[in-house]
Amino acid sequence: MASESLDKIRLSGDVPNHVAIIMDGNGRWAKQKGFPRQVGHREGMKSVRETIEGAAEAGINILTLFAFSTENWNRPRKEVASLMSLLRYYARKERDSLKHQGVEVHVLGEIERFDDQTREAVDLIVRGTKGGQSLRLNLMISYGGREEILRSVRTLAEQVDQGELTVDDIDEDALRKTLFTVNLPDPDLLIRTSGEYRISNFMLWQIAYTELHITPVLWPDFSREHLFEAVLDYQRRDRRFGLVGTS
Ligand code: FPP
Repeated sequence: MASESLDKIRLSGDVPNHVAIIMDGNGRWAKQKGFPRQVGHREGMKSVRETIEGAAEAGINILTLFAFSTENWNRPRKEVASLMSLLRYYARKERDSLKHQGVEVHVLGEIERFDDQTREAVDLIVRGTKGGQSLRLNLMISYGGREEILRSVRTLAEQVDQGELTVDDIDEDALRKTLFTVNLPDPDLLIRTSGEYRISNFMLWQIAYTELHITPVLWPDFSREHLFEAVLDYQRRDRRFGLVGTS
């Protein structure tokens, strides 16, 4: 399946090493079909599965999914509870299959804000998939880019306060080490579904030179074929990182 796009990807040069996705449009998908929003999130879980498989097939090494933002805590209580319950369900149900596929799961964000049950489920999927070699999957949960940078600033200030660092030691590398994404290369490609042209507080530090691909497809309709389209779009870009181009 989808081998034509995969063949094209293989012929088109470098595959993005790290792909990040803002999975948007679950609510609108459900509304269009006359379902409650929760149904959209449940369907969105299927797209998560498909995207992970597609990423491994395309040769992507790191996949980062924005599953729950700091701002999402302010949604109606019922919706937050249902998203947490979906996360627990996902962790229990998918753990073995992810392990089998060689996917190593990491959960990044303010995990301390979760209830005990959700933290345990998260812990289970992280421990159960440790050592996977085919794909690193980062689930960004209770994550916000500004909060992440603020946290870093506080950590660095504390280190200066304790005499572990001087102000002059604070450079990009020092800050990077205090981010949730410590040791991860920046995303090469950021995909956003549902046609919205905004970043929504996602990986603000890390996406400085990331290529953007916005698709109108709502997340529950997103398939591996859409992922391959985004990779092909990326492969047509001329990345200059602020320098002069080759052409
Ligand atoms: C955005 O759609 C999506 C979310 C807030 C949640 C993302 C969750 C999933 C894709 C399913 C579960 C995933 C895992 C990893 C367990 P929205 O509700 O903002 O949609 P709208 O903008 O159309 O209202």
